[in-house]
Amino acid sequence: MGRHKTLVVLISMQQEATPIIRALAMRSMKDPFGKVLRIKGFEKKIQNTRLIFIVQGIDPRFGVETVGTEAATLATQLAIQTFNPNLILNAGTAGAFASRGAKIADVYLSKGTCSFHGRRIPIPGYQEYGVGSYPLLNVSKLASRLGLKQGIISTGSSLDMTPSDKTQIEGSGATLKDMEAAAIAYVADLHRIPMFAVKAVTDLLDSKTPTSEAFLKNFKRATEALQKHLISVLHVCATSPLSAFSRRT
Ligand code: ADE
Repeated sequence: MGRHKTLVVLISMQQEATPIIRALAMRSMKDPFGKVLRIKGFEKKIQNTRLIFIVQGIDPRFGVETVGTEAATLATQLAIQTFNPNLILNAGTAGAFASRGAKIADVYLSKGTCSFHGRRIPIPGYQEYGVGSYPLLNVSKLASRLGLKQGIISTGSSLDMTPSDKTQIEGSGATLKDMEAAAIAYVADLHRIPMFAVKAVTDLLDSKTPTSEAFLKNFKRATEALQKHLISVLHVCATSPLSAFSRRT
């Protein structure tokens, strides 16, 4: 039992979210933040938990999914303002290093802090600000309970990776590379709301196959794996007491 709580899951692509929304038979919310932004919302009650999925939506100018940090920041702030969640999750896909044990369609929980790569501001104080290193919820017990791997996530604005990005990402100890987690962690940290991420691997960062080709080839398999494991993660989160979400890294 325990107190009522609200759990917000931020997902950048509708195609990542749809299998889970269907499996959980979630109800669609009508334009949760107005028509202009096209951000989508879906909800469902699980015991005492209000579960809300926020999907970043389609860009009105370019007609593609609004992947990336800008839309993630916007959606996170609006979701916090509107729904006052006790816990935030970021679910989606990521690239990962095979050299750190990753395989296609592996599902990882986040670990440690979440940083940005590719943000170079070589002025005292600003370099650290650019990198971020935002705290995340410690979910090591959840990972062991569900038999999921854990990895550090590094966030940037590109699907591929320059040699300098690679050096920075490897140097941060990251196993995973995505385009949203640190932006969401930034806003969650401003509001002191615990957050963690669940990421399924679509491409191997140290493979010779171009990232975009691997991403498109493996996307369906990865989102199926994400669906299966995210449902278990959500079930544990929805049925755990609020106190389980207060310890951050
Ligand atoms: N999402 C899936 N694969 C990715 C990659 N290689 N980089 C950033 N975001 C991703």
